[in-house]
Amino acid sequence: MVVDGVDVCVPEGTTVLDAAMRAGTEVPHYCYHPGLSSPAQCRLCLVEIEGAPKLMPSCTTTVAEGQVVHTASDSAKKMRQGVLEFYLINHPLDCPICDQSGECDLQDFVFAEGRQHGRSTIAKRVIGRDDFGGDVLFYGDRCVMCTRCVRFMEEKEEKPILTVVERGNRAVIDTFFERGLEEANWAGNVVDICPVGALVSKDFLHKARAWDLEHTPSVCPNCSMGCNIEIHSRDNLVQRFKPRSNPEVNGYWLCDYGRGRYE
Ligand code: SF4
Ligand code: SF4
Ligand code: FES
Repeated sequence: MVVDGVDVCVPEGTTVLDAAMRAGTEVPHYCYHPGLSSPAQCRLCLVEIEGAPKLMPSCTTTVAEGQVVHTASDSAKKMRQGVLEFYLINHPLDCPICDQSGECDLQDFVFAEGRQHGRSTIAKRVIGRDDFGGDVLFYGDRCVMCTRCVRFMEEKEEKPILTVVERGNRAVIDTFFERGLEEANWAGNVVDICPVGALVSKDFLHKARAWDLEHTPSVCPNCSMGCNIEIHSRDNLVQRFKPRSNPEVNGYWLCDYGRGRYE
């Protein structure tokens, strides 16, 4: 197959998004995560495939021999710009005080391809902040409803504590009744996989800016599993542990026990 003029050879069953990444092309996406199922709901990863009647979600479309994909055609770019504009209709201008700033997929994608000025004149909805339990805080106004957090809790932690309540413009992530993430052992991963600053760590809150952190690859010292980590430090002081992907050991994840013992 060919992605943006680059010949790519990948195994049958590979998604177009994965194939594009292997060809060195990043396709913007929110709901897709390599460690989770793909609901194809964020509509940001649509690409043009020659012969297809419309733009296709690259996260769920599998490759085919001779397929020709354009991720940056006029129609794909126009679609992404439109989708990003929709995301910003309700999004607050929180970047200066948001912990995700500097490592945020909304900030980065809008900076790269979004409109310079919003056109919406309707009032933004306000959801506010909620304590989801454990180390996790939820800033509902920043959520892009990718459902990665919900799927992680269902598929990986196997404790479906998070869910989507309400519908349409009122849809919001919440915990089931009085349940909270303090019941979980892997909840810190929902902060890692949230593509925006909707789920943040209480421990790390307003502690350091992403661009001030030094990243050092290492191995978690807190048990014999040897999960691969990145140590994020500032001025030689460790600020947090983040998982470093290793399919043979920890996949994409890090447990709360190891994550919390960084000092
Ligand atoms: S989630 Fe991203 S875009 Fe939204 S306020 Fe935070 S840094 Fe800015
Ligand atoms: S809280 Fe984050 S991970 Fe969960 S649905 Fe919203 S944006 Fe996605
Ligand atoms: S990543 Fe493909 S639709 Fe969300």
